Amino acid sequence: MKPLLDIQNLHIAFDTSCGKLRVVNDISLVIEEGQIFGLVGESGCGKSVTSLAILQLIPKPGHITHGKILFRGDDLLAKSQREMQQVRGGKIAMIFQDPFTSLNPVFKVGRQLLDVIRQHHKIDKKEAKKRVLSTLDSVDLPDVERIFESYPHELSGGQQQRVMIAMALISEPSLIIADEPTTALDVTIQAQILRLLRQLCDERGISILLITHDLGVISEVCDKVTVLYAGAVVETASTDELLANPQHPYTQGLLAAIPQSAQKGQALQAIAGVVPANPGAITGCVFASRCPHVYDRCEHKPSLFTIGENHQSACFLQEEVTHG
Ligand SMILES: Nc1ncnc2c1ncn2[C@@H]1O[C@H](COP(=O)(O)OP(=O)(O)OP(=O)(O)O)[C@@H](O)[C@H]1O
Ligand SMILES: [Mg+2]
Repeated sequence: MKPLLDIQNLHIAFDTSCGKLRVVNDISLVIEEGQIFGLVGESGCGKSVTSLAILQLIPKPGHITHGKILFRGDDLLAKSQREMQQVRGGKIAMIFQDPFTSLNPVFKVGRQLLDVIRQHHKIDKKEAKKRVLSTLDSVDLPDVERIFESYPHELSGGQQQRVMIAMALISEPSLIIADEPTTALDVTIQAQILRLLRQLCDERGISILLITHDLGVISEVCDKVTVLYAGAVVETASTDELLANPQHPYTQGLLAAIPQSAQKGQALQAIAGVVPANPGAITGCVFASRCPHVYDRCEHKPSLFTIGENHQSACFLQEEVTHG
């Protein structure tokens, strides 16, 4: 069976006054049906532009320079803008970090959800309202009639994010792309929203591409995870494997930086240095300038080495281990 989403050798560049910035270089990843797939990496490493590429929504002057994005085998990059409108908010829905900016402040919540339904389905008003109310109920919102008649500002941040999830669900998508969906929320609400996403995935078989800079979030809900650094995949594994057996020095650095490790008595470490602005111009390993293990081979670009079942890492140290 074809995977739900298959991104192959994706390259993205921005044409700026300072020249071509090649910010995503050869990213490949596969998301299976019913899976929560985590994409993790620090700010500026290309998580959002990669996810926007799926829906042909990269802001100008950005564009895809190479690659394929297959959705159940269907090439999304070959589709016209008109065809993509049916995909967006249809088979693939998106949830953003800040619900308040995604919801229109001048319309009531119910009206906004009805608009989404009407865009994708021909059903009568009464039936549409019934569907909106049951979807609001399915994201565990209380008193759904009141929420339906509320303006976004009358809801709490957590309630707004649940409305956004309802909006994503209403067209019965197969894939939800959630870009930092819990970053703006306090930890208790964050945990509830993550639990809700997990439940939707398990009960409805929806796949979720969950984007975050927080490995703590990944460990809570994801089945599989890809670690991005400077527009490149540095490590991919099942979540359990990645957390128990991180191989790439960047992944190890991210794990050392999460608060849980600090609570267990380890000092909270930041990875020194910053993500390069134009990683496509780097000929060797993109992480070399910040890597504690850098050595002469890192002047070359490592490929993704397979180091176990479903576990790959782009570091020469692993190649030496796996190949003796
Ligand atoms: N409009 C733009 N013009 C030029 N460069 C851009 C533009 N939008 C994004 N970039 C660059 O593309 C790279 C990837 O950005 P992206 O927004 O995908 O990062 P991210 O991993 O989502 O970061 P964050 O965690 O901060 O959301 C960055 O280097 C960024 O500077
Ligand atoms: Mg982002």
